[in-house]
Parts: sequence; C-alpha cells; structure tokens
Amino acid sequence: MTVTDLPDAPTAAGELSVWPASTTLLPHGDLAVGGVSLTEIADRFGTPAYVLDEGEVRDRCRAYRAALPEAGVLYAAKAFLSRAMVRWVEEEGLGLDVCSAGELELAVTAGFPAGRIVLHGNAKSPRDLEAALRLGVGRIVIDSPSEVARIAAAVGPGGRQKVLVRVVPGVSAGGHAKIRTGTEGQKFGLSIADGSAQHAIARVLGQPRLELTGLHCHIGSQITEVKPYLVALRRMVGLMARVRDAHGVVLPELDMGGGHGIAYRPGEPALDLTALARRMRTGLDEACAAAGLPVPRLVIEPGRAVVGPAGVALYRVLAVKRTGETVFAAVDGGMSDNPRPALYGVRYAPRLIGRHSTADPRRTTVVGRHCEAGDILAGDVELPGDVHPGDLLAVPVAGAYQLSMASGYNMVGRPPVIAVHAGTARTLVRRETLDDVRRRDIGG
Ligand code: LLP
Repeated sequence: MTVTDLPDAPTAAGELSVWPASTTLLPHGDLAVGGVSLTEIADRFGTPAYVLDEGEVRDRCRAYRAALPEAGVLYAAKAFLSRAMVRWVEEEGLGLDVCSAGELELAVTAGFPAGRIVLHGNAKSPRDLEAALRLGVGRIVIDSPSEVARIAAAVGPGGRQKVLVRVVPGVSAGGHAKIRTGTEGQKFGLSIADGSAQHAIARVLGQPRLELTGLHCHIGSQITEVKPYLVALRRMVGLMARVRDAHGVVLPELDMGGGHGIAYRPGEPALDLTALARRMRTGLDEACAAAGLPVPRLVIEPGRAVVGPAGVALYRVLAVKRTGETVFAAVDGGMSDNPRPALYGVRYAPRLIGRHSTADPRRTTVVGRHCEAGDILAGDVELPGDVHPGDLLAVPVAGAYQLSMASGYNMVGRPPVIAVHAGTARTLVRRETLDDVRRRDIGG
C-alpha cells in the first residue's frame, strides 16, 4: 500500500481523492470525516477550525512502516505537533525528528522516548543543546563546523553523544525554491563539493565525546519524483566509502531525510511510497555492493505525507463581493493560519459544505480576513455561484505546515485542532483567545 493509494472511502469519487480516506458524503451537502459531520464540528467548536483525522494519521504511519520495515521512520514534527500527535506516532512505532527545544520538550513530556528522537537545526541555540543532552536525545545532526566542538564541550568529560553529519549532496529537488535544500548556496548542511562535509566528518571522528553513527541529507520538500532520492543516495554512499577509505570507519546509518510530496488538489502528482521504498532499497544495495560497504540502516523523515492529508480546515464565509472581473469570498481565517499560498504559491481546493447548491459554478477567489491583498487562500477556484455569508468552506490537505506555521497577525488568534475518530470529536489544541494574547503583553 502506498500513501497515495490508501483505501478509498466507498463514496469517495475523484473529487474527494485528496480527502481523508474516511470521508463520506452526508445529506444536504455535508461531509463526514472520521465519522463526524463537518458542519457539526463548525457549529460546536466554531470557525476557523482544523480537523485532524486520527485514523488517517495512523494509517499513514503504518503505510510507511509496512513499505520500509527494515528502515527507521522518523516523523518530522515541524509539519504539526501536539501531545496527541506525539502519542499516535509513538504508538505506531515511528521515531521523531525535532528542530527545537520546544518540539523536543513537548514530545518528551508527552511520553515520547528521547532515544528515538533526532535533533536537527542549522542554528541550534544553547537551550536546544541543553535540552537535547539533558533529555538524552538519540542523535544530534551536526549542521556546521563550529558545532563539533560546541556539542563535545556540552557533552562534558566521560559523556558520549551519537551524532550524524548533515551533508549537501548537490541535488536540486522540491516543490518551490524556498524548500530546496539539497544544493549549494542554501543555509543547510555541509557540502561534499567544497570538502566541508569531509572536513567536519574528520573532526567528529577525532572527538572522543562524539560517536558518528552516520550521514544525513534532506534534499527538499514536496518532492514527487523518486529519482532525486536515488541520485542523492548514491552520492551519500560514495561519501561513506570515502570515509571508510580515509579513516577506516564504516558508518552504520544513512538518513535520507523527508520531503515526500502529496497532492493538494485532485489529479496532482504525489510521491509513490511503494516505488520510493523499492527503488531506494535496490539503489542502496547496489551502491553499497559496488563500494564494498555493508548496507547501512536506512532512516527517513516524512512530515507532510504523514499528517498533511489527515487535516481539513473549516472556515465561515464572512463577505462576498465582485471587484472588476473577480468574485471574492472572504472567510474568517487566512494567512495567519495558512501562510502557504502566500509563501509558496500553493493551490488548494476548497469546497462548500453544509448545504446543497444547485447554482452554476463560478470562478471565485477565496481570501482571508487579514490586512493584505496577498492574503489569498485559494485563487480562482470553482465554487457554486450562490456562495454567500454564513456558508461553510472546507479545505482538504490542511494538516501539514499550516498551524505549525501560524502567526499572531492582526491578533486574530490561532484556530483549535479538533481530532475526529470513530464518530467522536475532541479538542486537541484549543483556540487562542484574546486573553492568551493579552497575558503575554506585560508592559504598559
Ligand atoms: N527532515 C528535515 C531535516 C527537514 O528539514 C524536513 C522539512 C523534513 C524532514 C520533513 O519534510 P517533509 O516530509 O514534511 O516534506 N514549510 C514548507 C515545508 C518546509 C520543510 C522543512 N523541512 C511547506 O509548507 O511546504
């Protein structure tokens, strides 16, 4: 089973192909996710709200474990993290990739075993490192030369911390320039081409308080092709062979990062997990055989593909107007809960829910409530021509990098996260209130 062909719900036609597999059509244009009506959620919890289908998250974790049973699968917490999410990921047998003391402390205090956590970051703060060492994270990924001495000093005499070195393999991949991280000239990792990766590896190996368990790369995000992973994998194995030749050290782990792309709209391509797993495994076997290396343990770090398709954002329409040629439907959220269209030009497919419309479809631009013309949630999409204030719009594939990137812009307050499962809904993260905002503001 692949992430892209998880079982379809009986009613899920092509138009619902990017919705959680549990999605069903209800009377009066309503939809149920996880057995719960979305209009009921909107009425009960208010809007905007994010709905997260627990079953979909768990199924996606299982699909990864089944596709790569011999590999380590770390969920990339930056896509979305909450205490329930920590528990689901833990119960499904995944590890965790974190990139701050905040993500790390939340995970560990929610019961995640620190030994299954990897800490990333191109600029780790003293607090990040202190938390990592105090809590005993499994691995720290070194991202710059100065970190070698810094982590060794923080470990202290007699201690030993497992580390990986993040390498730039020189592969360009990813859905947008801002999320391509496998090439020279961007801030992450250490280059093979200019020798800085080799240099850092030598320094780590000379540091008795650090144990180099392997190499890491993350070439980018929202990648829909397998090929760039194979190119990166061969370069990484090539570097592992050079490490063996230069230092006599055979590294037991190879972490190929995440970046697995998903469809945001019906018909869009997604990375095929089954093909990725098969071709990475073969590619790794062949490259290692050619280099005379034992096959290292493969690790991957999917974030978006685990949680993205499990989320649905719910908004209430507040205003509809025509300006020139464009019909605008303005909703009660926007770029403060989803900055992705503004940042990466991502296109979403909102849907009217909660009533059945017989009106002809009309090209509509769904905008947010924020004070910027760029606050567009979905430009030029087809919605019924009679969409009006009070209507509900639901946006699928809203689980990744929306709430985790949400801001306090215009003091609107961040939406709640409502988990749905087996016909029940419960709040995971409550709505941010004006009181929350006020409490932080202690001057005056
Ligand atoms: N591992 C590392 C080291 C990463 O930096 C990332 C994502 C991942 C794994 C997980 O990547 P994923 O499987 O989720 O693509 N805000 C952007 C995405 C930024 C990705 C940052 N790093 C977006 O909304 O598209």
